[in-house]
Amino acid sequence: MNITIRKEEKKDYKLVFNLVQRAFEKELMSDHTEQELVERLRNSEAFVPELSLVAEIGEQIVGYILLSKIKIVNKTLEETESLAMAPVAVLPEFQGKGVGARLIESAHEKAKELGFGSVVLLGHEGYYPRFGYEMAKNYGIRLPFEVPDENCMVIELVKGALQHTKGIVKYPKEFGIE
Ligand SMILES: CC(C)(COP(=O)(O)OP(=O)(O)OC[C@H]1O[C@@H](n2cnc3c(N)ncnc32)[C@H](O)[C@@H]1OP(=O)(O)O)[C@@H](O)C(=O)NCCC(=O)NCCS
Repeated sequence: MNITIRKEEKKDYKLVFNLVQRAFEKELMSDHTEQELVERLRNSEAFVPELSLVAEIGEQIVGYILLSKIKIVNKTLEETESLAMAPVAVLPEFQGKGVGARLIESAHEKAKELGFGSVVLLGHEGYYPRFGYEMAKNYGIRLPFEVPDENCMVIELVKGALQHTKGIVKYPKEFGIE
């Protein structure tokens, strides 16, 4: 199956909204508003257009990924820039065909090219370790809310990028987490 990954364009917004909505429709751990989060993030300072990617099979958009800027804040309030992966979504009928994997790998590659050193995510412990994600706890990094340790994960895009970074993730206000 030929999967193409490209930067999202304005003309894709409506399709991506519907795609994200459908991808999360049956997800138990979802509040089913991920498509609205994407809309808020696109209009925020955290948005990096090059890290908003769609996956196409033929002419059809079947997947979407967004990495947005976050901060990791340590005890002395020093901030390190990082990225949050939220969301990654594939249309139900195209899941399990490697689309998610291609989106994640392409987003990592692009983020690295842009000079980002790490990515943080909240996700299923059965999926992300295959891409190199580890428990954030191992790095002394926490999310600003209660979540099982195994679901809070990070990856160093550049080896050692998190070596001197411990602290709590600070999400942009568009995430609605205070
Ligand atoms: C998670 C998601 C993006 C993965 O995309 P995909 O294209 O189906 O994934 P791939 O084809 O690359 O990989 C398939 C593998 O992922 C696993 N997988 C998919 N969703 C999973 C989940 N929620 N938990 C654990 N494993 C999962 C499949 O079991 C399969 O495993 P295998 O390779 O060992 O058989 C997609 O299933 C999706 O959109 N899910 C609904 C939205 C969601 O939960 N997004 C993630 C939270 S932000």
